[in-house]
Amino acid sequence: MVLDDERFSVFLSSLVKDEDEELGKLRKKAESEGVPIIREEMAGFMAFLLKVIKPLHVLEVGCAVGFSALHMRKYLPENAVITTIENDKERAAEALSNFKNAGAASIHLKTGDATDVLKEFEDESFDFIFMDAAKGQYLNWLPDVRRILKKGGVLVSDNVLFDGDVLQSRYGIIRRDRTIHERLREYLFVLKNTEGLTTSIVNVGDGAALTFKE
Ligand SMILES: C[S@@+](CC[C@H](N)C(=O)[O-])C[C@H]1O[C@@H](n2cnc3c(N)ncnc32)[C@H](O)[C@@H]1O
Repeated sequence: MVLDDERFSVFLSSLVKDEDEELGKLRKKAESEGVPIIREEMAGFMAFLLKVIKPLHVLEVGCAVGFSALHMRKYLPENAVITTIENDKERAAEALSNFKNAGAASIHLKTGDATDVLKEFEDESFDFIFMDAAKGQYLNWLPDVRRILKKGGVLVSDNVLFDGDVLQSRYGIIRRDRTIHERLREYLFVLKNTEGLTTSIVNVGDGAALTFKE
């Protein structure tokens, strides 16, 4: 049987418990202001991964207003620390205020372009990295991301199926989206074919690549 993705997604969402009140408010506010945040289905999947992996040093690339960082914090061990990067100053300021209101002292925000910020970290600093920023940059960031991910660590790259467009031939993609289509395909190819990395691509939310560093 071939599953209808939309029906499957709606069905899964119907099973999801409501987020806690504060996060629910934050999601509504972000959505009403057009701030892109992690989809509910992906948030549920991340909760599962974090519970199983129990990472202590988490890095997020793409903080926006801090929704996913606050969400991740709920499922991490108490002594875990999250570092998150955002280059949009207004969003970063809002994220800081959200972290403060939530009393989330374990979340550290770095305001700046991930291309520069990633270079500041020492080798093998993180055991879990959540990549959720400009999709066209994922491939450029990969060398640093690999360098700062611990052996045995996990990289989760969100939105890699680009609403299913990645599966289409380049000729089925509108011209404006062709560069990103090409870059995402190349990124997935590199993840799948780099020695020392094991990657599985899953159809959750907008598609996620799960990569284990040997
Ligand atoms: C999809 S949103 C992140 C959503 C967030 N992870 C959540 O689920 O709550 C992507 C964010 O990445 C930021 N971003 C895009 N390119 C970036 C870059 N080069 N460096 C740092 N942040 C970047 C954008 O400003 C945007 O706020």
